[in-house]
Amino acid sequence: MKIKSEEIDSLFATPIQDIVIDDEELMQSIEDETYRLMAKFPDGQAVSNYGGYQTPRQVWWNGESKIYQKLGEDILPIIKDYYYRTTRNNRTQEMKLQSIWGNVANRGSFNMIHIHPSSQVSAILYVKGGGEQGDVRFHNPLGLTSRMLELSCGEVEEYTDYNVDRWYVSPMRGRLVIFPSYIPHDVLVNNTDEDRISIAMNFNIPLL
Ligand SMILES: [Fe+2]
Repeated sequence: MKIKSEEIDSLFATPIQDIVIDDEELMQSIEDETYRLMAKFPDGQAVSNYGGYQTPRQVWWNGESKIYQKLGEDILPIIKDYYYRTTRNNRTQEMKLQSIWGNVANRGSFNMIHIHPSSQVSAILYVKGGGEQGDVRFHNPLGLTSRMLELSCGEVEEYTDYNVDRWYVSPMRGRLVIFPSYIPHDVLVNNTDEDRISIAMNFNIPLL
């Protein structure tokens, strides 16, 4: 058999960007601000978290947290760059910060699987934690692939872009993870005595 071409197209890719912000002063100010908000608003707001603490959603736009507000504004150009590079959307410059909140995950806390509806891009900035405080786990939005192969056709010898169905990202101070809001994700349990602090953000382009 004579083969003329043997191309495999890479289609339907999912862009997850991993950035490290090297600014210790900024990270410390966000950590301090998150603990300040937790002390002032101890009830917080529970959404997908089991245990742990989430800051009330309104603190960044009602004037309570200038630090969260400024963080969202400073991250926005990075998000626009990611969005344009991955979508070529001609309204990218209209993208806005939709919501921002802080998470404090102490021992035993975790987040159930969820998506972030009504936004296009989401981001997580880790400001406290060194790798052992619970990874975020992204799930293949196209459904099970490698797991299905393992179960039905034998073992997967190595994971590739084509067969991976879960992707783990560890907390690390200064790490900014950007992802499409539609990707299902959960957060593994924090089994340490050190808090994991992360700031979650949603961005969207307002509907016409
Ligand atoms: Fe989330």
